[in-house]
Amino acid sequence: MPAQPPTGVGLEGLRAAAAGCRACELWEPATQTVFGEGPETARVVFVGEQPGDQEDRRGEPFVGPAGRLLDRALGDAGIERGDAYITNAVKHFRFTPTPKRRLHQTPGPEHLRACRPWLEAEFAVLQPEVVVCLGATAAKALISPSFRITRERGQLLPWTPPGADTLFSAADDDEDAPHQTWMLATTHPSAILRTPDEARPAAYDALVADLRVVAQALA
Ligand code: URA
Repeated sequence: MPAQPPTGVGLEGLRAAAAGCRACELWEPATQTVFGEGPETARVVFVGEQPGDQEDRRGEPFVGPAGRLLDRALGDAGIERGDAYITNAVKHFRFTPTPKRRLHQTPGPEHLRACRPWLEAEFAVLQPEVVVCLGATAAKALISPSFRITRERGQLLPWTPPGADTLFSAADDDEDAPHQTWMLATTHPSAILRTPDEARPAAYDALVADLRVVAQALA
């Protein structure tokens, strides 16, 4: 059964509720729920796939190797990480235990479905101007199952957040009136870490180029 986030509680209330989420089985072997992080005033939201090993232990998104690469790319693109909200499509680490380490396992459609109400609740509070999908899992979940990062990355697409008609209809003055939300998908930082040495600089530059598009949209 999909998660059932409380309404009207703000990000901290959502984070507290998500800590006890049992909407799918991933909570049990995981250390903790890794909820999104960033200011409630953030104009841009980055959505990854799921927390990794270090994120699971620390309880924060994108703080492991992929997070360090993302931080560098954000800096090179002129985006302050502290101004952004960073979250994941699935908020528990899915892994296979092995004697040496916990091996990342891609979340299945059932995990994305169970966790999605948390993402929608985050969007409802944040009302972002730009949403950035980091990698195919987020892009397929939020844009379309047929979305191909290699073909369509780096493009700003008009996007309607799920449930936006009800979420944003409470606005009663111009300042709070619904605004256009833009979506952009780019490579997942982990994919860049996995790219062979000789191709990695170009892959990194392409990520920074996509993030510059985001920086321009926010300027
Ligand atoms: N990869 C993700 O998709 N999210 C994280 O938080 C860390 C690694």
